[in-house]
Amino acid sequence: MKRILLIVGGGIAAYKASDLVRLLRKRGHAVRCVLTEAGHHFVTPMTLAALSEDKVYTTLWDLKDEAEMGHIQLSRQADLIVVAPATADLIARMAAGLANDLATTLLLATDKPVLAAPAMNVRMWTHPATQRNVAQLRADGITVMAPDEGPMACGEFGPGRLPEPEAIADAIEQALGEGAAPDMVSGPLVGRHVLVTAGPTHEPIDPVRYIANRSSGRQGFAIAGALAALGARVTLIAGPVTLPTPPGTTRVDVETAREMAAAVDAALPADAAVMVAAVADWRVDAAGLKIKKGMAAPTLNLSENPDILATVAQGARRPALVVGFAAETDHVIEHATAKLARKRADWIVANDVSGDVMGGDSNTVHIVTAHGVESWERLDKTEVARRLAGKIAEALTAR
Ligand code: C5P
Repeated sequence: MKRILLIVGGGIAAYKASDLVRLLRKRGHAVRCVLTEAGHHFVTPMTLAALSEDKVYTTLWDLKDEAEMGHIQLSRQADLIVVAPATADLIARMAAGLANDLATTLLLATDKPVLAAPAMNVRMWTHPATQRNVAQLRADGITVMAPDEGPMACGEFGPGRLPEPEAIADAIEQALGEGAAPDMVSGPLVGRHVLVTAGPTHEPIDPVRYIANRSSGRQGFAIAGALAALGARVTLIAGPVTLPTPPGTTRVDVETAREMAAAVDAALPADAAVMVAAVADWRVDAAGLKIKKGMAAPTLNLSENPDILATVAQGARRPALVVGFAAETDHVIEHATAKLARKRADWIVANDVSGDVMGGDSNTVHIVTAHGVESWERLDKTEVARRLAGKIAEALTAR
């Protein structure tokens, strides 16, 4: 059981704070709520008090119980302070270090980690002032989640929606070191969402047969684990493999390329996408019943599968960094360079699979970007993953 101090700001998304309280209670945490002046217009103290089963604090002057519960004490009795929704105004006041209400006073007085889940209009989110304030908060060590993208209450579309309560609760547990190994709570990728595809896909021929490839999923799983170890929220979309789920990642199992494409789409938005899966280029017009052994060999009718990497790299919700892989048996760098342009990825990690790379433990890779080629010596797949995760963290934090 952890103690969470939840500051509810004033935005239309404040109604989701009630869900968040309920979810956190269900997961066994104690929640104490602070409601800002603006927050009052969207959710009542009574609702939060009933759901949290605790007193709700609203103004500094509430703490007439100073003797009982001073603001310093209130700010430090928690294991984590969560601001959800973190409005543009609240983020600006936090970044400026103001203490002009109970919420900001607590945030300034606390010695505990702070996690903010932003929610605001898309223009307000993308405004340079907000982006500057968010960068300042991150530099101050506050975890700021990326907002969700989608239709907004104001009728516009884009990033700015409050992440779903489930995702906030996951981020809270990650920040508290639960649901993730202790060394995953910090790191340069805290607050970032990274999507990883891994493994092969299986394309059914009939109910008992399928087309597959030799991908083991090891490189992708190692990358997902290495990104989580740097603090990222990782969605690992895995084809049929028998590997254990890397700690700190959320795994979605799929079978076919089309299922993988749908799972990737559902997992967006993300700050980065690393597409390691060996997706089958073709699917079979599968038979509904088992094909029987007969006189003539059956003909397999093939249709092209969606190119998931190209779709993501060229889509409206393109992550800031899109990394593809290229398994080649000849002219590795030339083919990878052509692929970089064709798919519009930012990097292509090319590997020579002419030997025993597929299913093996080690890998020789070349990172092909618009700026040139970086070749790494033959390394264990976990070391390739560690280095690549470091490079991704560098690229994302430099933005
Ligand atoms: O075109 P090719 O299969 O060689 O490209 C490899 C890269 O594209 C990998 O990153 C792989 O995950 C991705 N890919 C994909 N969807 C496909 C085919 C490949 O995402 N249908």
